[in-house]
Amino acid sequence: MTATEESTRTYEVRTYGCQMNVHDSERLSGLLEDAGYVRAPEGAAPDVMVFNTCAVRENADNRLYGNLGHLRQAARDGMQIAVGGCLAQKDQGEIVRRAPWVDVVFGTHNIGSLPVLLERARIEQESQVELEESLTVFPSTLPTKRESAYAAWVAISVGCNNTCTFCIVPALRGKEKDRRPGDILGEIQALVDQGVMEVTLLGQNVNTYGVEFGDRLAFGKLLRACGDIDGLERVRFTSPHPAAFTDDVIAAMAETPNVMHQLHMPLQSGSDRILKAMRRSYRAEKYLGIISRVRAAMPDAAISTDIIVGFPGETEDDFQATLDVVRESRFANAFTFQYSIRPGTPAATMPDQVPKEVVRERYDRLIEVQEEIAWAENKTQTGRVVEVLIAEGEGRKDDATRRLSGRAPDNRLVHVAWADARPGDVVTAEVTYAAPHHLVADTVVGVRRTRSGDAWEARQGRPAAAKGVDLGMPTIGRPAPLPVVSGCEVS
Ligand code: SF4
Ligand code: F3S
Repeated sequence: MTATEESTRTYEVRTYGCQMNVHDSERLSGLLEDAGYVRAPEGAAPDVMVFNTCAVRENADNRLYGNLGHLRQAARDGMQIAVGGCLAQKDQGEIVRRAPWVDVVFGTHNIGSLPVLLERARIEQESQVELEESLTVFPSTLPTKRESAYAAWVAISVGCNNTCTFCIVPALRGKEKDRRPGDILGEIQALVDQGVMEVTLLGQNVNTYGVEFGDRLAFGKLLRACGDIDGLERVRFTSPHPAAFTDDVIAAMAETPNVMHQLHMPLQSGSDRILKAMRRSYRAEKYLGIISRVRAAMPDAAISTDIIVGFPGETEDDFQATLDVVRESRFANAFTFQYSIRPGTPAATMPDQVPKEVVRERYDRLIEVQEEIAWAENKTQTGRVVEVLIAEGEGRKDDATRRLSGRAPDNRLVHVAWADARPGDVVTAEVTYAAPHHLVADTVVGVRRTRSGDAWEARQGRPAAAKGVDLGMPTIGRPAPLPVVSGCEVS
């Protein structure tokens, strides 16, 4: 394959699962572009299709093999297919056994090998399966093609030392590996230099950061160090583990101006008995204690969570305990999951699996309680003036009023009245209406054009004069980044 031929090859990466995978996919795109590939135009069949898989959901494998089946003819016609991520790490050689037209299988620890494996598969005309048992190169040292001009994920650790009984992540991502602070801060500075104004620090267990190099206070220190980076306006993180949550982190959040008053902290269950069965080492009282200390230090903090309903052995009393914690915590948002068996986890073979219809009924009740709380909490925002970082996304098609959309500092989704602003700019507006899952801010107070907006504009490859508000439809939908699901929460 000549360099010219190589440079014309196109790729597509399809991503499943958590933010760690989303971020890995940015690296896969970066690696492929470094190797001369270009992203396939929307809707066009690529020369290389990469599946970055997740193993969390029941039937994840059926879905993958279904997708691979659909591409069998395309593979015969010359498309190369690569499968990576957590399901690849789990199924290993099984993938090429069931779908021999797959060219490359790579794991969570060797994403950097993808371009070489693709080339080797082409030359040798043979499937390449390469998986490693542990991480040798921290993936952040690999090239990255960032999805957003104004917001970025920054991985500070990968892997997890816990053993939650419903979770497959430690088996697939390995023990926690921590990057060094200087390395992380260097990456953030480089991002800011490119126009990024918001970073989300990412780790399966973000607040145990430092365990590998023996500094229990490393996470709080890292937050404070982010405060010293000029031009970095918003710092978020996901996801902390309640068992490891310490007061120095609360102090760092409260005292560092660019660390947002937003906390996403998985609860999973409000029943101590179920938390024990889940092997989650905190109890409801500890969880609620953290929440009340966060609220004392930052009364404006928006707190969100993840909850699993119907874990094996969960009784009505256990479920009521979850509802109690939910009522007391007053979450701005909750990601709720109906427990389903995840093969390979200890919980999969526990007795007393809760019947699906019971899980569903509890889930509906939980949603009802949480929606009411979220709406009431959002209503407290009306009349407030918020700074909205405008995001890129899809238009709001059901609304005659053209609006821009973005995130408030506390990460609430806000639709603001149309203004001369680009993704990455900041619109200050008064909240005029609250819905359960978003706010509307129709009174615009000001627009701040930012370096991030400039960076977004530069990416569009158009002269500045041609752009302004030329966003077509009002934006809504997928503001990036959305600190919603890390490996920890979805599992
Ligand atoms: Fe680790 Fe989170 Fe999985 Fe528990 S749920 S094992 S803390 S990744
Ligand atoms: Fe892996 Fe994330 Fe899924 S760590 S199993 S891709 S939730």
